[in-house]
Amino acid sequence: MKVLITRKMPGDAVERLKDKYEVEINESDKILKKDELIKMVKGKDAILCFLTDMIDEDIIEAGKDLKVISNFAVGYDNIDVEAASSRGIPVTNTPGILTNATADLAWGLILATARKIAQGDKFVRKDRFEGWDPTLMVGSEVHGKTLGIVGMGKIGSAVARRSLGFDMEVLYHNRSRKKEVEEELDAKKVDLETLLKESDIVSLHVPLTDETEGMISWNELKMMKKSAFLINTARGEVVVEEALIEALKSEKIAGAGIDVYSDEPYGANPDYYSLDNVVLTPHLGSASHRARNGMADMAVDNLINILEGRDSDYVVNRDDL
Ligand code: GLV
Repeated sequence: MKVLITRKMPGDAVERLKDKYEVEINESDKILKKDELIKMVKGKDAILCFLTDMIDEDIIEAGKDLKVISNFAVGYDNIDVEAASSRGIPVTNTPGILTNATADLAWGLILATARKIAQGDKFVRKDRFEGWDPTLMVGSEVHGKTLGIVGMGKIGSAVARRSLGFDMEVLYHNRSRKKEVEEELDAKKVDLETLLKESDIVSLHVPLTDETEGMISWNELKMMKKSAFLINTARGEVVVEEALIEALKSEKIAGAGIDVYSDEPYGANPDYYSLDNVVLTPHLGSASHRARNGMADMAVDNLINILEGRDSDYVVNRDDL
């Protein structure tokens, strides 16, 4: 059978595919353009793709022999799952293994924004540090504040769990009630408006769907405290980026920590670059050795299991096949 891998993979999981199948890998490691993907997917039985690949209906249509689309990511908003389902193609993802790595990064951004760590780093590198200064880069303490989690899934819960060490109150907004998290962390479920009004740090952990796209816009940002920080390690499009940039410029909120961008997979919005009150990272949520190697293993396992006629626990469109 023939397998397409759209970029280089970390670790050696790829060897397990090479042992079994005829594998084509995009060795250039550049994001494939739509016409290149269409050409390469033809005649393939499986595709192992990344969140930088927009697997739309035309690509799925070109992949007439596809038996599985294995996404190297927990999010799968890059795939037209409906188009895959209507052709009976299972789509798989890699949840769980990247939970801690992403929660750690969210906390890195919380601390970096509140305590101006990135700003301080730039300042020292520019050789501007001339000794301790009682008024230099004074930030906000995180300890004892209120953390608002939007989307209390695996990653949201892991971010909330880390707040125990900071003696924080936890509010959350989620479609369903999470009783275990409430018991474990004394977290309170509230509506989005209450969460935005009462939290000192708002951290986003929802998947990108029609429902969550643009969920944080000017109106929502206006509801936040002037002293509050917004952290986004979910997907850029959950936030209306122009509104956030305006809110940061006009100091409607105190700052933001941003790992994901609306312009992905092609980059970040340059309007952020001149702002001191935002910390920017290049979509690093799952970028730990453990998580990335584990994601590679899971994506390969998912693909092999389906091609060999077995089941996988990580089929996201099981009910629609
Ligand atoms: C990363 O953003 C992922 O969805 O795995």
